[in-house]
Amino acid sequence: MSALVIEDVAKSFGGVSALRGVTLSLEAGKRLVLLGPNGAGKTTLFHAISGNIIASSGRITLFGRDITRLSPDARARLGLARTFQITNLLVNLTVIENILLAICGARELTFRFMRPLGSYRDIQVRALALLDEWGLASVGHQVVRNLSYGDQRQVEVVMALAGEPKILLLDEPTAGLSPAETLRVVEMVRKLPRHMTILMIEHDMDVAFEVADWIAVMHRGAMIAEGDEAAIRANKQVSDIYLGLE
Ligand SMILES: Nc1ncnc2c1ncn2[C@@H]1O[C@H](COP(=O)(O)OP(=O)(O)O)[C@@H](O)[C@H]1O
Ligand SMILES: [Mg+2]
Repeated sequence: MSALVIEDVAKSFGGVSALRGVTLSLEAGKRLVLLGPNGAGKTTLFHAISGNIIASSGRITLFGRDITRLSPDARARLGLARTFQITNLLVNLTVIENILLAICGARELTFRFMRPLGSYRDIQVRALALLDEWGLASVGHQVVRNLSYGDQRQVEVVMALAGEPKILLLDEPTAGLSPAETLRVVEMVRKLPRHMTILMIEHDMDVAFEVADWIAVMHRGAMIAEGDEAAIRANKQVSDIYLGLE
């Protein structure tokens, strides 16, 4: 079954075409990495998928439902979660407080029409379990702004997991990290449940190949290549772009 189908999606901002007829589909349980230089349109594509912007034209289908014009909340209720390239953390709160808020947000979305939030204790138990599961228990009571950047990115991924999404979008979770921190984030992504469909933006090709079973490459708003590691490594246009020749 297709988790996500993107058909001929375009988006312009004034005179700038950020997306030009992008087509891409992703089977449930696959891990796709979206590569491409700065300004290629990767984040804009994520915004169009998550509902933070509405595509100017084209169609986006999530688990068989047309979501092209749905609100971000409606898409989240269908099982979609994402992180942002610009961090979305409340940096003056502790790690556990951020996770608690993410769980409350996810539950409010799911149960708004059905039943109250559940007990605070319940939510706290779940937050502690998530921190424990992802090796962040030792920083749970630290204020987020005092964490290393690598730990902050991991906290964001855990927050996105709070609602047990079926599909997870990660916008450059390794951007600005040291090689050691990058490795920890890559390990975390690799450990995510296999049934979860993952779409991750990454600019480093080697990191992409560590995580992906399928790679798509964007350049100047267009999807220019997709394939497995061997196909992408052998693609002349992709290597030209990465060497700055195009
Ligand atoms: N809100 C916006 N208003 C105007 N231009 C935008 C906006 N968002 C993105 N762009 C432009 O769209 C293009 C693609 O940007 P983006 O999707 O952020 O690229 P990437 O994530 O691949 O680096 C860039 O030229 C960028 O300047
Ligand atoms: Mg981006």
